[in-house]
Amino acid sequence: MCGIFGYTGKKEAQGLVLQGLRQLEYRGYDSSGLAVQCGAEELRFEKTKGKIRNLEEVLKTNPLRGSTAIGHTRWATHGTPSQVNAHPHLDSANRIAVVHNGIIENYSRLKEKLKKEGVSFRSDTDTEVIVHLIAKYYRNNLEEAVRRAIKDIRGTYAVAVISAKEPGKIVAARFDSPLVAGVGLGENYLASDVSALLDHTRRVVFIENGEIVSLTENSMRLMDLEGRAVKRLPSKIDWNISQAKKGGFPHYMIKEIFEQPEIITAILRERIKKEKHRSAVFFEELKINRREFGKIKRVILIACGTAYHAGLVGKYILEAFTDIPVWVDTSSEFRYRNPNVDRRTLVIAISQSGETADTLAGLREAKSRGAVTLAICNVLGSSLSREARGVIYTHAGPEIAVASTKAYTAQLAVLYLLGLYLAGIFHARPRKKIQDTLKEFFRVPVLMKEVLENYKRDEKNWAKNAHDFNERYHAQLKKYFGGGAIEKKRSPNGFFLYLGRGINFPNALEGALKLKEISYIPAEGYPAGEMKHGPIALIDENPWVICLAPRSKTYDKMISNIQEIKARGGMIIPVVTRGDREIRKLDPFYSIEVPAVEEIFSPLLTVLPLQLVAYCVAREFGEDIDQPRNLAKSVTVE
Ligand code: F6R
Repeated sequence: MCGIFGYTGKKEAQGLVLQGLRQLEYRGYDSSGLAVQCGAEELRFEKTKGKIRNLEEVLKTNPLRGSTAIGHTRWATHGTPSQVNAHPHLDSANRIAVVHNGIIENYSRLKEKLKKEGVSFRSDTDTEVIVHLIAKYYRNNLEEAVRRAIKDIRGTYAVAVISAKEPGKIVAARFDSPLVAGVGLGENYLASDVSALLDHTRRVVFIENGEIVSLTENSMRLMDLEGRAVKRLPSKIDWNISQAKKGGFPHYMIKEIFEQPEIITAILRERIKKEKHRSAVFFEELKINRREFGKIKRVILIACGTAYHAGLVGKYILEAFTDIPVWVDTSSEFRYRNPNVDRRTLVIAISQSGETADTLAGLREAKSRGAVTLAICNVLGSSLSREARGVIYTHAGPEIAVASTKAYTAQLAVLYLLGLYLAGIFHARPRKKIQDTLKEFFRVPVLMKEVLENYKRDEKNWAKNAHDFNERYHAQLKKYFGGGAIEKKRSPNGFFLYLGRGINFPNALEGALKLKEISYIPAEGYPAGEMKHGPIALIDENPWVICLAPRSKTYDKMISNIQEIKARGGMIIPVVTRGDREIRKLDPFYSIEVPAVEEIFSPLLTVLPLQLVAYCVAREFGEDIDQPRNLAKSVTVE
């Protein structure tokens, strides 16, 4: 969470840093600020509460001139979102400025100590101790002061520091919060995410835990905490810049939804190759060899949020293609249990960002117990991808909208391929079956495209339905709260219930999560078979029930569930296979059709309308779709 951007070179830094912060705004957006070296041993800074546009407004009339600067966009942990708590934080003499991402766990002890030494604090943040420590150790050598200060702090951090006394220099350090330096010509950059660097350079150096980097316009020096030089060649990033732009769409989310068919096609083309007249799955970067996989006796998938839902689908996939037992756990639970894993356990950590604190901790826990670890990750060079024994990249390109869409389907695509790859290793399924499944897989992105084209054709209708929902929702709210007496036996307003069975059950969770995240409407996802065990008590005419009912082996059971909801007045929106007649007879409010596909692949189709429903409702409600309240794109703190 929080975004950091730094620039040193010959150009005016303010505009470049603001541009970088805008690219990083999805990481946090409750306040922002920047500090600039403005010549003759002077630092100037500005910070504002709220989105980056507020900072831009202030800087329009009062620009900070200079060619070395650091900036920050914040997601509050310690201290409310306010101007005073916004970064940068400066020492008492305003000679050193710091921006920070992470949490300093021992900050209150350090703060007390510094206070006793006469330091007065201006903010409620944990970050401020860092700048005062650096100031305390500063003897005209910023690297040395940062190194000593870092040794005092415990917790997670990516920090960037400038000093009025050392023009043209940025010093940065990291531990468990991402930080990457961008290599330019006569200029260098720093960012908490590669995507913010793509406008300027493709050559980047990933800063590792416990490392310090010192940047000037013509140099980049890496060192460890003892000050010993570290050598690392820059990596080349081949992400397309246009992937990080809206490309004519009104929001990143809808753009990313529409990118999905192409991403899945690219994944299939990259991973499936012909080998002796047969198709086979290849993971070039994997590092874990077939012999090691062959020894695996069970699999545990760990992840958070949407990636966890991908893990749940992964369980169905791996169980369908292999005979290995598979468990799935949220990373935050896995890491604090006593997970019985050993060297015959494959722990697969799934994460778009590869920086999620709980997933990283879960991976480390698994590693320490001897498990074989594999990361399924989108961001190249992320911590997870570097720490896991093996890695498979999803190659979905930068995902900017906070609500994850394309990363999810790319994770599913990789899990299908991994399942088929393991099926080959364990000889778990007949070769012919694997070949047929691979062939069917190539049809899936074409069908995904059809779903999205149908949406485009029918967009007005989708918007009208969202509008009707909005009217009804607010009328119900008024009735419930405005009318005085609360009507008994009624659910408060039009909440959403998402039901699914089998491999589509995780999509019910995912659909509910998408809606909650961006429209703030209460929504629950449930396996439809669980309805009778409690949730059916919620049903009257108020909830909107989205039922995932494509053709499947549990289709008839789903119809019974729909009938039970109908009988109690619930409003049904089924997602069905094209041409379905049975459900039409049940007079649903609005049916959404997806093309027929083998059941195992159906989640890749049924999730699309769920993403679109969330998008249309949030747009109708006028919500900030790409930057929903309280959320941040990568959760690098616990
Ligand atoms: C939901 C969403 C989050 C993330 C979760 C894990 O739309 O984006 O639930 O899926 O925070 O993030 P990663 O995948 O980066 O580990």
